Amino acid sequence: MMAFTQILWRRVTIVSFVAFFGFVGPSTGAQQTAAIAAAHPLATAAGYAILERGGNAFDAAIAITAALAVVEPYSSGLGGGGFFLLHRAGDGVQVMVDARETAPSGVTNAHYFDRDGKPIRGASIRGGTAVAIPGVPAGLVHIAERYGRLPLTVTLAPATRLAREGFPIDVRYARIAKLRETFLQSGANTQGFLDKGRAPSTGFVLKQPELAATLERIARYGFAGFYEGRLADAMIEAVNQAGGAWRRADLTSYKVIEREPVRFNYRGARITTAALPSAGGIALAQCLGMLEGFTLGQVGEASTDHLVIEALRRAFHDRARYLADPDFVQVPVARLISADYARRRAADIDLTHATRSDALEAVETAHFESHDTTHLSVVDSEGNRVAATITINLLFGAGIVPVGTGILLNNEMDDFSLRPDVPNAFQLRGSIANRIEPRKRPLSSMTPTFVEDDKGVLILGAPGGSRIVSQVLLAILQYLQSPDPDLEGLVSMPRYHHQFWPDLVEIEPNRYTPEWRAAIAAKGHAIQSANRAWGNMQAVFKAKRDGVAQAASDPRGEDVGWY
Ligand code: GLY
Repeated sequence: MMAFTQILWRRVTIVSFVAFFGFVGPSTGAQQTAAIAAAHPLATAAGYAILERGGNAFDAAIAITAALAVVEPYSSGLGGGGFFLLHRAGDGVQVMVDARETAPSGVTNAHYFDRDGKPIRGASIRGGTAVAIPGVPAGLVHIAERYGRLPLTVTLAPATRLAREGFPIDVRYARIAKLRETFLQSGANTQGFLDKGRAPSTGFVLKQPELAATLERIARYGFAGFYEGRLADAMIEAVNQAGGAWRRADLTSYKVIEREPVRFNYRGARITTAALPSAGGIALAQCLGMLEGFTLGQVGEASTDHLVIEALRRAFHDRARYLADPDFVQVPVARLISADYARRRAADIDLTHATRSDALEAVETAHFESHDTTHLSVVDSEGNRVAATITINLLFGAGIVPVGTGILLNNEMDDFSLRPDVPNAFQLRGSIANRIEPRKRPLSSMTPTFVEDDKGVLILGAPGGSRIVSQVLLAILQYLQSPDPDLEGLVSMPRYHHQFWPDLVEIEPNRYTPEWRAAIAAKGHAIQSANRAWGNMQAVFKAKRDGVAQAASDPRGEDVGWY
């Protein structure tokens, strides 16, 4: 029996789709062999429009990423970065396109600490010192050139149109703009996200003509269109005027990196997930590796959840000890995800009692990234797949839009650890391995993932900072426990989280029964109910049996009132 309540449960959006500007979605009734899940129906529609034009899943992912930059500008965009996990059906090639932002080469400690060594408040969150070199435009160009079938002039067209003609903002946009109203009023050229200086109401048509011109420029000139010339000049000027230290070479030398994904097996399923500089895939492999040694019940049963919490505790402990950009720090990845190591790490898990985090070897604690990210999952009729998680970090990023560009710049520098004793935006301390160094990529938690088993393939991911790992882990456990995939159940299931420090189990409000809480507390876990639900999972499933595909979007993304 599931030991939780599903208060205010609402059916999730299956294949979010809105007919808008003539986009054509999947015909109802017919069995679909392609599916898309994204955080906004207009982005989903942009992806379907590209599939209908003969594009593959990679082309669709480009269109969706660009459309999300327009319709969900507070989460991701051309001024940010991300990871695109690809599977090419024809030859089975699987790769993670790492389009993560990089630290500019001019940054020094003086940008973040005053003469007395005290951290400068907000330096990694707001203004020029917060902004890392964006990776998304290079990622889109790379995917188009190497994996796509259609030119960027076609795949970026739906987003360009949305930016130029405008779109009616939804309840989420209105709520987030209200939350960040003062930030947007006082930001560098961010007033375009408001309506006459105030947070717009639902239905307000937001037009972004400069962003449309930027998308056209990238479509026409590719990498050079963004990283050189007029746009590059505008970005450097805006960032440096706001106290940053960007150099032209930081932009021209930006490189997408193709990385081998993290791969492992769990109880007969093959899992492919994010590699460093995301910590997410390694944490997922470690948790499932540890859990493989136990007989598990259902997720939602306290005895099983206790084990999941203990696995998370240990994986996040290792994250803090070892993980960072692998081009700067030697990380023993193979050892960390090996079965032997998982067995040894799990050896001190007590079935009846919580381990205290401070009983594990002392370590600087893990970094806790923002919630303001987005994920998209795509499969096409040929079986090509994309799981991509992209971000500008905190809501509306660094609050800088270089004049004439429409590009909202990220504040991904906050994903670095300034110093072990300096807490980040979430009052947590950081790790030395993840300290700022020129051209280094900040450690991430983004976990785009494929799960293949006898049923078919599940493509999933979510926003939520370090809570991404627990979201994806819980969904995978639930998926593997059921003979028939219930996508709606996966994206809407209640969530809990543990990340080694602080030593507590965070739970979504109003989703767990008093009995469950009592059982978890009896094992010695401290429980903290969050003040709101978290995540916005996007999942796609393609069945092995008949190739039929389905998609589901997290109802939390619709602001359904779980808060
Ligand atoms: N900025 C969120 C992450 O990279 O995980």
